[in-house]
Amino acid sequence: MRNKIGFALSIILLGAIILSTRIYEVDLPVWHFFGGGKGLDPATLHLAGEFVESNLGTAREPDGSYTVRMLAQQYLFVPQCIEVPAGVPVRFRTTSADIVHVINVSGTADSLKAIPGTVTEAEFQFPQTGEFDAPCREFCGPGHFAMRAHLRVVPQEKFANLRSDERRDCDAH
Ligand code: CUA
Repeated sequence: MRNKIGFALSIILLGAIILSTRIYEVDLPVWHFFGGGKGLDPATLHLAGEFVESNLGTAREPDGSYTVRMLAQQYLFVPQCIEVPAGVPVRFRTTSADIVHVINVSGTADSLKAIPGTVTEAEFQFPQTGEFDAPCREFCGPGHFAMRAHLRVVPQEKFANLRSDERRDCDAH
């Protein structure tokens, strides 16, 4: 009986450790072994693939939908300034170059977790045009409280007239 209780307590303790450290969010080789990893190497994100710098920011996809691709790293979001059209669904895709960050659009429940080794995706819609703060909401180190992006929501007609480099980073214009 004592052994069974001890075993149950060990399992609970192990579960608590796994949950509190969130080790399952870290891209460890063991996850790849079990087929859990998605094979996105945080160290080479800038070299090849979806999250190279020239592919970041807002893009109009061939099917007419909008996608924002964004990279999170200690302690900034790239691009720093994200420009999107108002009143239409916008898909956000992100990953992290180091540890877990969460981008949140101030004053809304819109938030997206950036996890190393994995792409996370969510769809948001911004009914109002305007300028919004988008800070990091996951404690990620000493620079956490200064980690923030800027979101600019503009009318669809205005967005349509932007050049692709302007869609990549609204600080560029
Ligand atoms: Cu990134 Cu807090």
